[in-house]
Amino acid sequence: MLKTFTFFIPFALAASCIVARNTPEGFAVTNTNYHGSGCPPNSTLVSFTPDSSAFIIVYEAFGVNIAPGLPSPNSKTCTVTLDLAVPTGYNVSLAPVNTETFRQDDGATGGFDVNSVVTGAGTQLELTTTAVLMAKDSTSTGMLVVDSVDVVSRFSSFALLKHIQF
Ligand SMILES: *[C@@H]1O[C@H](CO)[C@@H](O)[C@H](O)[C@H]1NC(C)=O
Ligand SMILES: *[C@@H]1O[C@H](CO)[C@@H](O)[C@H](O)[C@H]1NC(C)=O
Repeated sequence: MLKTFTFFIPFALAASCIVARNTPEGFAVTNTNYHGSGCPPNSTLVSFTPDSSAFIIVYEAFGVNIAPGLPSPNSKTCTVTLDLAVPTGYNVSLAPVNTETFRQDDGATGGFDVNSVVTGAGTQLELTTTAVLMAKDSTSTGMLVVDSVDVVSRFSSFALLKHIQF
């Protein structure tokens, strides 16, 4: 009895190491694109962790301003699209975990929003970031800059009826 028990301790440790990897075998990001008024060409960097389980989007030109004489509301948007290889039995979704912004205003309302959707029957993910400022009156001024968004991938395995989150 005791022998059997001690045998199973190293086995359990080995099994937990396998489960702890961040992406399922066969998962890959095959292409990345971005488009929108908040991310003109060559203004945005999408940088992945080595295992592709998380990434950061760094924006260099994602700012909205309001001031007397400028249009209000003023809004910008950027959509980052990932094409994926997803192993059979898994669904993937994106979860934004942190957004770095700079805001300064005098008499403005608005804010930013980050949304993610799954398209292409599960093989494409889109993350859309929007920033908007509105003047309260004709003297309002303000600026809102989106600097970066941190995103993690979440995998659900319906083959194993188990939900794995990182
Ligand atoms: C973006 O960068 C690429 C590579 O440096 C360059 O060929 C292209 O002209 C740039 N596009 C714009 C709109 O600046
Ligand atoms: C996986 O995605 C499919 C298609 O969108 C959906 O029908 C199914 O419910 C999802 N399964 C899980 C476990 O999220």
